[in-house]
Amino acid sequence: MSIREQLEQIKKDGLRELENFADAKELDNIRVRYLGKKGELTAILKQMGKLSAEERPIVGQAANEVRQALENAVQKSVERLKEKELAHRLASETVDVTLPGKSEPLGGLHPLSIVQNELIDIFQSMGFDIVDGPEVETDYYCFEALNVPKDHPARDMQDTFYLGDNLLLRTQTSAAQARVMEKRNPPIRIVCPGRVYRADEVDATHSPVFHQMEGLVVDKGITMCDLKGCLEQFAHEIYGPETKVRFRPSFFPFTEPSVEVDVSCSECGGKGCRICKGTGWIEILGAGMVHPNVLRGCGIDPDVYSGFAFGIGLDRLTTTRYRISDIRLLFENDERFLDQFQGK
Ligand code: PHE
Repeated sequence: MSIREQLEQIKKDGLRELENFADAKELDNIRVRYLGKKGELTAILKQMGKLSAEERPIVGQAANEVRQALENAVQKSVERLKEKELAHRLASETVDVTLPGKSEPLGGLHPLSIVQNELIDIFQSMGFDIVDGPEVETDYYCFEALNVPKDHPARDMQDTFYLGDNLLLRTQTSAAQARVMEKRNPPIRIVCPGRVYRADEVDATHSPVFHQMEGLVVDKGITMCDLKGCLEQFAHEIYGPETKVRFRPSFFPFTEPSVEVDVSCSECGGKGCRICKGTGWIEILGAGMVHPNVLRGCGIDPDVYSGFAFGIGLDRLTTTRYRISDIRLLFENDERFLDQFQGK
């Protein structure tokens, strides 16, 4: 075969192979086999020396044309390969925009937290600080500092979980009172929200763990009028300005005088309904003027300073607000129940 014929053959074979290859690796093998340094075309060019001076440029040109044709074909094949890969990727990454979306469920606040936050807002706007107290409390702060000595009959008012001789689960957020008064000098204006514990049987209105928010104000010249004004303001903010507030005389060992505070039922406006058990009133808190013994025990002179305290029951406030018939719903964390408060 003459050199020219060999060149023609190489071109034909090469172009045919470049039409038919499986993948990028095979394509590269073909390229190297025909166009590489040790490839077929190079091998032919090495034979150029055998040619006559007239033939050489003609064959040289023919060889260049073959090289050019093969290089073009390789280039085209590379492009075709790229297109194929792209098409494959697009097909495999296709998103079906008509499929229904998956929404990520968003958590919401527990109804108790919603009510607690609202109360915090109200009291903060009246200038109260928010403080935190321990749930595992000493006998001293939960009772003794609050004018309830050991063996005093008033201890029967609250069935206590004792954790040892001197440790217990706090039965009331009032335990924060003495802690605050020992650390701060009057004027004092704080609220302390949190969990409290009592050894009560569980039923629709009782739970061994529930929630309170304690309030304490101590300053010169604080009177029962300040207590009334503050709590009336609070009741109006939370239940609306038409709400009536009633103070009933009561007893707590750490306040004198003591009161229980009712608000007119927001459900029936005072006519009597299921929520207020027909009375037209809902009891929401206990309160009173801080007992001089309590002030004295914390190093505050009761002849100079006076104060008032209150303890709001957050669970009752929450169940009446949202017409929840059973307090247990607040503690069971059933998502079907909790979902209803999303976005409130
Ligand atoms: N700690 C009392 C209770 O749990 C409520 C209260 C707080 C009463 C502050 C008076 C003053 O019943």
